[in-house]
Amino acid sequence: MCGIVGCALRRRASDIIYGGLKQLEYRGYDSAGIATLSKGQLSIVKRQGKVRMLESCVDDLSGNVGIGHTRWATHGKPSDVNAHPHSAGKFAIVHNGIIENFTELKQKYFPDVQFLSDTDSEIIVRLLDKFYEGGLLPALKKVASLLSGSYAIVVICTDYDGIAAVKYKSPVIVGRGADGNFAASDAPALAGLCREISVLEDGDFALIDCAGISVFDNDLNPVERKIRPNLATPANLELAGCPHYMLKEIRESPRAISNTCAVFHTAEGELKKICGGVNRVILTGCGTAYNSGLVAKRYIEQFARIPCEAEIAGEFRYKNPVIDENTLVVAISQSGETADTVEAARLAKNSKARVVAVTNAPYSQLTGIADVVIPVAAGPEICVAATKSYAGQIAALYLLSGVLSGRDLTESLLQIPALCAQTVENTDISAVADMCARSSGVYFLGRDIDFAVALEGSLKLKEVSYIPSEGYPAGELKHGTLALIDENAAAVVVITGERLAGKSKNAVEQVLSRKGKVAVITCLDGIANELKDRATIVKIPDCGEFLSPLISSVALQLIAYKVAVTLNRDPDKPRNLAKSVTVE
Ligand code: M6R
Repeated sequence: MCGIVGCALRRRASDIIYGGLKQLEYRGYDSAGIATLSKGQLSIVKRQGKVRMLESCVDDLSGNVGIGHTRWATHGKPSDVNAHPHSAGKFAIVHNGIIENFTELKQKYFPDVQFLSDTDSEIIVRLLDKFYEGGLLPALKKVASLLSGSYAIVVICTDYDGIAAVKYKSPVIVGRGADGNFAASDAPALAGLCREISVLEDGDFALIDCAGISVFDNDLNPVERKIRPNLATPANLELAGCPHYMLKEIRESPRAISNTCAVFHTAEGELKKICGGVNRVILTGCGTAYNSGLVAKRYIEQFARIPCEAEIAGEFRYKNPVIDENTLVVAISQSGETADTVEAARLAKNSKARVVAVTNAPYSQLTGIADVVIPVAAGPEICVAATKSYAGQIAALYLLSGVLSGRDLTESLLQIPALCAQTVENTDISAVADMCARSSGVYFLGRDIDFAVALEGSLKLKEVSYIPSEGYPAGELKHGTLALIDENAAAVVVITGERLAGKSKNAVEQVLSRKGKVAVITCLDGIANELKDRATIVKIPDCGEFLSPLISSVALQLIAYKVAVTLNRDPDKPRNLAKSVTVE
């Protein structure tokens, strides 16, 4: 959903804003813009395309105060005109979120006005212009009171030598730096600029000028917000010699697992308290986070024998779920800002359930809702496709299943980072990647825990390569999906447990007999030997059935990455997507 950055500096603002937008590009990259203020004059540049489209204009934008935006379109197609900032009268604004009542507001206040853009955001700047009577904060408060939906808004006004911000359900952080002061959607924008940041709360306003930052609550009373270290640094945002963040981050999976295990103790005491008497567990999240919940469901039912469901957060929040004070709801989110997951956690909290967050973002909205936070210590994940955070989530959830079952599972994880590193470095996936790149559709199959991993492998492949793909339980193939198999289709079959290996092998035979191509990801010598003449085999280290997702998923991520590169896709910024989905 869009990244925003604003600043009031003792030096030119445009290049700092440009640099901040580059760091926020994972939030959206279909258009970008910058507005600056110099001697009471606004200058605005906006372009369809990635942030780099602004590079040649940065030098033309003078002024020490400015705002910038990188967009992921919701209302209005990507275009120069729909790019932010939007302006009217003395104002320019950038917005992240969705204004759900923009049509009603337009009809009510501007029935005869032709808006310049098709966006929901333009209404904000029109309303500011309409209600402004010389006080920036009162005008912003009035406008905010009219808006429904979610918003992080940063404003410049020709009467004020600084920026103003307001937020509701979309993130804004503020920070003080050596050259001036800042607001942004997320910490990477301020890496190298601010060592410390504060996170605004819903309903907060901020006035930021070169001299300082003032934060106000919803009634415009001054408030203090906690100062926290900025964990994003130029060093941890570098590509470290890798051609893409996706590869760099896959390579960081072993560290994500070991670091997540190392910090688990910070949550353990509180978890033991909150887990007492739990008779049902619901794991919820979106995309990859949901897929890690599917793996963890298996852990919790196996080890703790507590009934457990994995629910897609965007469904869970609208289905009037049966939950009570003995239900443990575990909300899983790399960013901690995914709107559906945040709202699912809020619903659980309001229904008196016990709420645990599993997140890679320690200051996110989700952490503010949860009773206990289990940190995923994967470090900043920039690639839109989640990789190392999946590994961290599974490690964290595995240890949670230990708490729920009254067992310490830490030791069983000790060997995993090394095996994961071995998989990253030594697994040859080129033949499988080649097979996938030439296929009309790729079906990822597995049984039980391998099925959960198959779903994640399929999501990864379709996301970064745009090849149609589905994940299926291997046993379901003959109930419909087999109709899609022909000589142009491929199946990637994950087989990590002896228990169900024969069953999964049946699915391999079914695909082969319909002339489909097959690759098998396995740690089992028997399966590899039996199928090696008819399928492409990727051999992975054996670490037992339950922990195998931490290994097999890495092979599948490497396949997806290689296919994307082969097909000339940008694996870090797949078309139509953004990393933090902070709107519905
Ligand atoms: O930040 P979150 O973990 O809440 O994000 C959830 C999904 O949007 C995310 O996992 C998405 O599916 C990834 N792009 C998949 O690679």
